[in-house]
Amino acid sequence: MKRARLISTLIGVGILLASAAAGAAGTVQAGSAKSMFCSGCHGVDGNAPYPSARMAGQSTQRLGQSLMDFKTGRRFHPVMNILSVGLTQQDIDDMAMFYAAQKPLSLEHASLYWRLGGPDAINAAVDETIKLSKADPRLAGRLSGACAAKLKEQLCAATGGPCTYTGRDMKTAHAGLKITEAEFGAVAENLVKVLDAFKVPEKEKNELVGMIAPMKGVIVGQ
Ligand code: HEC
Repeated sequence: MKRARLISTLIGVGILLASAAAGAAGTVQAGSAKSMFCSGCHGVDGNAPYPSARMAGQSTQRLGQSLMDFKTGRRFHPVMNILSVGLTQQDIDDMAMFYAAQKPLSLEHASLYWRLGGPDAINAAVDETIKLSKADPRLAGRLSGACAAKLKEQLCAATGGPCTYTGRDMKTAHAGLKITEAEFGAVAENLVKVLDAFKVPEKEKNELVGMIAPMKGVIVGQ
């Protein structure tokens, strides 16, 4: 009995530590509560096109940078300088997640995540690429599809969307798999095929491929 209590306490502490770690990266939910204060000027979902660039759907990186620049005075605006001076890094990360998750009414300042079509499009593109690759004789039996959820999360985070990548680094994740250059090329080719089928514009396609191509060094030959 005592032993069971000890174990459940340990699990409880583990969960607390895990949620503290998740909090450190910023969450949409926490950001939603904190953003109440900003809605008067920026709109409830950050879609007000005035007083600045619409915040909805900007990348987490750009939102975080703008807020930090206001806080430190590197970017000057009397209102935003005063409003951001008391924000912690956690506040900034949370609000960046919240606004990055809001669907923008115009794509002018939007993250690659939204320019690719947002969560539905990204998830569908990953599923289709895996499906195509599993059926590809050049990759026979080499792809299980077990990585789909992590891949979606990673793409979301890398394209400025409201996600935190919780998977292993690319080198560790591919250790021992001995992936060849041809295999890496075949998956990349399948991805491009899917992007074309989804009618992703050339600019967005190049941005995404430009993000993935440099990973070759830590994926191939591990
Ligand atoms: C009283 C009105 C007001 C409130 C409230 C307000 N802002 Fe702003 N915000 C502005 C103005 C004005 C600008 C434009 C500043 C500029 O152009 O340099 C701005 C710009 C920004 C930008 C830069 C956007 C870009 O891409 O250029 C961010 C990010 C931002 N605000 C975040 C926030 C957050 C987060 C809050 C809540 C903590 C908030 N603002 C509350 C007035 C406000």
